[in-house]
Amino acid sequence: MSKEYKGIVLAGGNGTRLHPLTSIVSKQLLPVYDKPMIFYSLSTLMLAGIRNILLITSNEHISLYKSLIGDGNNFGINISYETQDKPNGIAEAFLIGKKFIGNSSTALVLGDNIFYGPSFSRILHSAKKRKNGATIFAYKVSDPERFGVVSFDKDKVATSIEEKPTTPKSSYAVTGLYFYDNKVINFAENLTPSGRGELEITDINNMYLKNNELNVEILGRGFSWLDTGTFSSLHEASAFVQTAQNNQGLKIGCLEEIAWRNGWISDDELISISKRYPNNEFGGYFKNILHSEK
Ligand code: G1P
Repeated sequence: MSKEYKGIVLAGGNGTRLHPLTSIVSKQLLPVYDKPMIFYSLSTLMLAGIRNILLITSNEHISLYKSLIGDGNNFGINISYETQDKPNGIAEAFLIGKKFIGNSSTALVLGDNIFYGPSFSRILHSAKKRKNGATIFAYKVSDPERFGVVSFDKDKVATSIEEKPTTPKSSYAVTGLYFYDNKVINFAENLTPSGRGELEITDINNMYLKNNELNVEILGRGFSWLDTGTFSSLHEASAFVQTAQNNQGLKIGCLEEIAWRNGWISDDELISISKRYPNNEFGGYFKNILHSEK
């Protein structure tokens, strides 16, 4: 029997780069145009067909996430919660989530990463289909030193991954979306904290690379990976979502819509959800998509 793929959303960090916006609010709850930021990350897992999701955030903010998302039933998914008490690094998610993952494979998405592009769902499903190893996604950026950076040989095979290098070997950033087989738990258990005192996701990726089990998919031209790490990029992300949504009349990161298109909530359920948004464009949007083709 094939095991169900699990998903983890990590909404950690203390968001100091966005103070005072994040002085009392978790960064991943800030609005990106018409939705809280975390919805975009959840939508990525849902587009991959993942319904069983663990949300990890700080003890300070967890009650806000619980009020917003609850058990996930409105979105046709099943959400459980754990806390990360100190910002000990992204890879700690696999230690915190060990019981939740069990003997499954798991995808991890960072709660501040927004992906939008053609055939994204197909790209996600092919990553999920790989039985062994890891799949990560690289994206060409103009400021690679702010990210994990992957370099390639002439055949586009990954040769190294470095976390925030001062002299990047390429301009390909590693995005905050990772698909791992069950070995990730064991790899995380064998990590030691980096110079900045964190369990680094880059070290996990290097373990897969050393094992010859790291697939790096390039998200090409025409794909958008949006950053929300600075005041400017947060504002630009909102403007981008507004423009893209207005152009096509289709929403990005709309959880109820994805659940409905995945067959996780019925037409009747979508109708009753739309009634919870009176005098708000979401209500009208749900009615519209119900009457358009799936
Ligand atoms: C983290 C990872 C980095 C990755 C980035 C993507 O960086 O450590 O490798 O490129 O997420 O958003 P951080 O957000 O912790 O600076």
